[in-house]
Amino acid sequence: MSSVITADRVPAITRGLLSLAVAALLATPLAAGAGSTTVPRVKQDPPSTPPAANFPDKTGQWANFPAAPPSQTGPFFAALGANGRTCATCHAPNDAWTATPGALQKRFAATNGADAIFLGLDGTNCPTLPTATVSQHQAASSLLLTSGLIRVELTPPASADFTVASVSNPYGCGSTTAVSVYRRILATTNLSFLSTVMWDGRETAAGSTVYADLIRQATDAVKNHAAATQSELAADASGITASVGFELGQYTAQQVDTAAGSLTAPAPGGLVAATGGAANLAQQPFTAGENNASLTPTVFTVFKPWESIAVTASSPAAVRAQASIGRGESLFNSMPFTITNVAGLNDVPGPNGASRKTLVGTCGTCHNSSNAGSHSSVLLVDEGQAHRAVAGLPSITLVSNTTKATVTVTDPGAALATGKFADIGKFKVPTLRGLAARAPYFHDGSARSLDDVVSFYNTRFNLNLSATQHADLVAFLSAL
Ligand code: HEC
Ligand code: HEC
Repeated sequence: MSSVITADRVPAITRGLLSLAVAALLATPLAAGAGSTTVPRVKQDPPSTPPAANFPDKTGQWANFPAAPPSQTGPFFAALGANGRTCATCHAPNDAWTATPGALQKRFAATNGADAIFLGLDGTNCPTLPTATVSQHQAASSLLLTSGLIRVELTPPASADFTVASVSNPYGCGSTTAVSVYRRILATTNLSFLSTVMWDGRETAAGSTVYADLIRQATDAVKNHAAATQSELAADASGITASVGFELGQYTAQQVDTAAGSLTAPAPGGLVAATGGAANLAQQPFTAGENNASLTPTVFTVFKPWESIAVTASSPAAVRAQASIGRGESLFNSMPFTITNVAGLNDVPGPNGASRKTLVGTCGTCHNSSNAGSHSSVLLVDEGQAHRAVAGLPSITLVSNTTKATVTVTDPGAALATGKFADIGKFKVPTLRGLAARAPYFHDGSARSLDDVVSFYNTRFNLNLSATQHADLVAFLSAL
């Protein structure tokens, strides 16, 4: 696997020390941020309750490690600008550090849309839409309410080798210079497995560490989501460091599966315990570039003891569910398929300059960081998601300045950040833990369920999955 830019891990803070460091940071009052404001601070929306226990989701329960963050008074939970937003407004701790449609609909209903996430700035489909009445505001927030999508406005660099020829945006945000795209809120958890920051990698800088990328990302988040001024930003610098320290200390994973039972305790019948759940994940090492040497690495061993369970029709239901998760893990690790037409992968020569136009790989070719599933070095690839028409999303046509070739997508992805026509439709490889808590999937929420995700891959890479294999992969992904 080629790494476009080398990325290092978070600097020398070890996991054990990190929680202490975080506690220390949280104990430090956000002096400058609280005291030196010239802009009046609007009361932030009530922070949601911390993940103190297991939280229900579609297939069981997810949990966080540490189980209960020490307090909600740290900078991650403090108003970052004048509009009442905090990092937790969008990265809600009891919503798996993101915001999902079901919870968003409740938040809208409980506040008649006054919750700060629904601000016209980026919480509606376009700031020019009318929001005077509750029903207008609800209609204007449709993409957030139904798919958890935030409007992200990005201007391609002046040096771009393409021109945005036209934008068909159903909501009036049709600028071809400040281009509106709609993206899922990436979860601010399990960040110690990151190599590429943001869906399009735009906060990943050449030669920079992920830690430095996250500091820059948080600074930009204040500016963009909270409309803060530069002087406020300078005043909040210590808060930004503390927010990044805080988010790097969070781990989120599925803890209990309704059918298979505990994902961490010994299985019925004396079987060895699986090593799922958030506390085990917090112990998982990560090394930048790990598993890159193999196109078919064994990435997941979380359910290793369940991979070899032999079941019969008379096996207890929980054991059959464990076996299904185990078979799903094996499929993920070792089911070979041909990967073609993935820009960012198939068009990059392999070792010794060998062509990789067709590659036999596995799910782990891209999702290769051990027991986490992100890519262990910077990787942005185009699997084709943005090339499909998706109801409610814009249609954006770009023309190459050199070849005059045109491409129409719902989101140009990395191209808006790099200015390269060749990067159209490229997105990062997301981490695969805590998935069940955060539907819908892909950068645009176009896969409503993990079932949809598996169907996408089945078609995209001609997997020819049997019904059992399809169900096994879904069971495995749901248990992560
Ligand atoms: C208005 C909602 C909103 C607010 C407020 C917000 N974010 Fe985000 N955040 C997003 C969205 C949307 C993305 C993904 C955007 C993209 O990739 O283009 C994101 C991405 C991120 C990522 C990247 C994670 C990854 O896997 O690459 C981090 C880290 C992050 N946010 C931290 C923060 C911090 C820290 C704050 C407070 C300073 C904050 N966010 C405030 C919506 C928000
Ligand atoms: C060619 C690289 C590649 C391969 C191979 C690959 N993925 Fe992905 N995967 C990605 C990228 C890139 C995304 C994000 C795409 C987007 O959001 O548009 C993604 C997204 C996902 C998501 C959604 C995560 C989220 O938070 O939204 C899941 C689940 C997933 N992949 C599972 C799998 C499984 C299962 C396989 C094997 C059948 C697989 N992937 C094979 C690159 C890959």
